[in-house]
Amino acid sequence: MSTVCLIPAAGAGTRLAAGRPKAFVDLAGQTILERAVRGVLDADVDAVVVAVPADLVAQAQAMLPDCHVVVGGAERSASVRACIAAASASFDADVILIHDAARALTPPDLFRRVVDAVRAGAPAVIPGVPVTDTLKAVEPGGGAEHVVATVDRSVLRAVQTPQGFTPDALARAHAAGGHATDDAGLAEAAGIPVTVVQGDLMAFKITTEWDLRLARMLLEATGV
Ligand code: CTP
Ligand code: MG
Repeated sequence: MSTVCLIPAAGAGTRLAAGRPKAFVDLAGQTILERAVRGVLDADVDAVVVAVPADLVAQAQAMLPDCHVVVGGAERSASVRACIAAASASFDADVILIHDAARALTPPDLFRRVVDAVRAGAPAVIPGVPVTDTLKAVEPGGGAEHVVATVDRSVLRAVQTPQGFTPDALARAHAAGGHATDDAGLAEAAGIPVTVVQGDLMAFKITTEWDLRLARMLLEATGV
């Protein structure tokens, strides 16, 4: 039994706008990518495949000697598929995790929870957390927006990574070559049942400058 983790880290980081691809932005003395990989290795994962922008492969491979680094694609799903191709050629795992580099502070327990749920028989497993804000559906207008309805948040979950799959389920999810913001979205489209386990607020995604500030403050507070 072995676990491989695929890390899509080839995004531009447009919303963070830090002047370089997001995974290579400094987060308290290490890059976001290094912190993400460290979290994965702390969780007893056997092998790690990372997808980065083409011009950063050599730099990433030197920075991450324990990982297999590949060239990512123009969209997240393409980067994941580049990782899948490399992983299936090199590793024989019974659980495949996919984890955003941008969720750099994800605790090891969350990886274990997802792996355990796959090994317990679920083909696709995702972490989810309840939504706390009141949610409104709006009709976008020119300038002003108008409320159409209040959405029942009790049935909604904000979804995180790592997402875990059996190799067969992941291959089927990506077989059609579709694009989605997460891998579970492709699994759903392929008719694969997706199970939600309890997520962790520390697995938040660094998307904007605000998130990066929060991550830096959390690291400062814990002294890591
Ligand atoms: N990702 C990737 N390849 C892409 C796009 C995204 O590997 N072509 C990765 C990112 O590096 C990130 C994860 O997918 O770790 C989640 O994506 P997101 O948070 O959207 O990151 P970016 O696409 O880099 O950010 P933005 O959308 O603001 O440009
Ligand atoms: Mg993106």
